[in-house]
Amino acid sequence: MSNELNISNKNKHKIIVANWKMNGSKTLLEEFSTFSQTKPCDIILCPPFTLLGSAKSLLPDFIKIGAQNCSEKDNGAFTGEISATLLRDSHVYYVIIGHSERRTLYQETDTVILKKVETVIRSDLIPIVCIGETLSEKKANKTLQVLEKQINACITKVNAQTRLIVAYEPIWAIGTGLTPNENEIRETHLHIKKKLSAHFNIDVPVLYGGSANAENCSRILSIENVDGLLVGGASLKKYDFEMICNC
Ligand code: PGA
Repeated sequence: MSNELNISNKNKHKIIVANWKMNGSKTLLEEFSTFSQTKPCDIILCPPFTLLGSAKSLLPDFIKIGAQNCSEKDNGAFTGEISATLLRDSHVYYVIIGHSERRTLYQETDTVILKKVETVIRSDLIPIVCIGETLSEKKANKTLQVLEKQINACITKVNAQTRLIVAYEPIWAIGTGLTPNENEIRETHLHIKKKLSAHFNIDVPVLYGGSANAENCSRILSIENVDGLLVGGASLKKYDFEMICNC
């Protein structure tokens, strides 16, 4: 079954995304200014909004800049919100949408997430859309069902020719030190790829996220249909993130 479909183009670079969440500082960005890349991969760093300007001036050019969220509205009287076009004007190319922390802590529904994905695409940015199951859904053997529902609600409704990235992040693996085993990741990524390839004419990269670190990165990246990693905690240490990007 695992070899039945491997849509990942083996020659394509892996995509490694750093999600700094509500952490980081200008000092940390200064540390990252000497980041060295020895293996070909696409690196995207998503700092908090207030560090986007410093990220642009301090990071080496090969590190692309992403944001962690944006408004579902294009513009207008929405105090405190940031639109995708404002992000584009701040040299942002990517936006993480639908992270489980946004879904659970800020009550973002699939409907809102779909609107955000659409506004990001309209603004010529690339959404990194997160999907994933809770521990109880996993225990009830509902992982694939839950992912399918999220894919149908937030991803396959958008224009079929568009550029986007999907991140599979089991919620129980985020920040816990736990990860699914290799077979689970293989099976889940295959399922996601199949769903996406039935809808899109382009190959949509599918990243794995959830306690990815310098120790487990090569094992996870070698699994079929894993096109890269979305890294939280381990992306806050330059040495660790460098190891991950170069592993
Ligand atoms: P983690 O976070 O790597 O700290 O588990 C990943 C994420 O939330 O994107």
